[in-house]
Amino acid sequence: MPRKSARNKQNRPVIITGNWKMYKTIEEAAQFVEALTPLIKQSPLSAYLSVPFTAIHSTAELVKKLDAPIVIGAQNMHDASEGAFTGEIAAKMLKDAGAEFVILGHSERRHIFHESNSFINRKVKKAIAEDLQPILCIGETLEQRESGKVEETLKSQLLESLKEISAKDLEKVVIAYEPVWAIGTGKVANADDAEKAHLFCRKVIAEKWSQEDAAVIPILYGGSVKPDNAGALLAEPDIDGLLVGGASLSPENFSQIINSFKV
Ligand code: PGA
Repeated sequence: MPRKSARNKQNRPVIITGNWKMYKTIEEAAQFVEALTPLIKQSPLSAYLSVPFTAIHSTAELVKKLDAPIVIGAQNMHDASEGAFTGEIAAKMLKDAGAEFVILGHSERRHIFHESNSFINRKVKKAIAEDLQPILCIGETLEQRESGKVEETLKSQLLESLKEISAKDLEKVVIAYEPVWAIGTGKVANADDAEKAHLFCRKVIAEKWSQEDAAVIPILYGGSVKPDNAGALLAEPDIDGLLVGGASLSPENFSQIINSFKV
């Protein structure tokens, strides 16, 4: 099946991606793909699924076999082409296994594994060079929000993680705004606050690149997205999709989120 890619009213591609984090064996991943496929048949979207490294190849093969509207991706990678980096994985290996996109700079990578903006910047460049679509995550902590530093945080994460990326390469990038306090906590940013943050990100892109670049870049929201709040988030003019953690582990919940997007 050719990839289904619907656009929203702003003519930007809509992307709804699951992020399984460190969940699901190969067998569990296969069961999920088989269960999800019929549930999203009517959607104009292909579902993106960011699965553990060990399940990339098997799920990518299964998606092909089932002709399912699902795009398989990874959750992280290293910026080097290859080398003595025990425990790491290269973009080329992800591609080889069947990944088409990669989440970079997720807050769990930034906070638990201390990844810096400059490391993430190198990864974004490498993913683009290897033709893996990067989904770059940014977002403020609760402390930064409470001390009025949301914009300052988003601006520096965006500019540093996207440093020296040309306008042409920026076209391949997807941004995910994920307030850290909303991830896995059940506290979703209300649609208004999320919209404000997305609009601000677009302003930063417009200032650094151009108004045209800011108008076309897809910006996803992530953080406690559930079937009952997905529709309101997607209705905001600057929210072009969703990055879903916990609720992407169940085919029923994830399909409801996918199906909440209507053209
Ligand atoms: P959550 O995770 O939906 O469980 O809050 C979001 C994420 O993976 O960033």
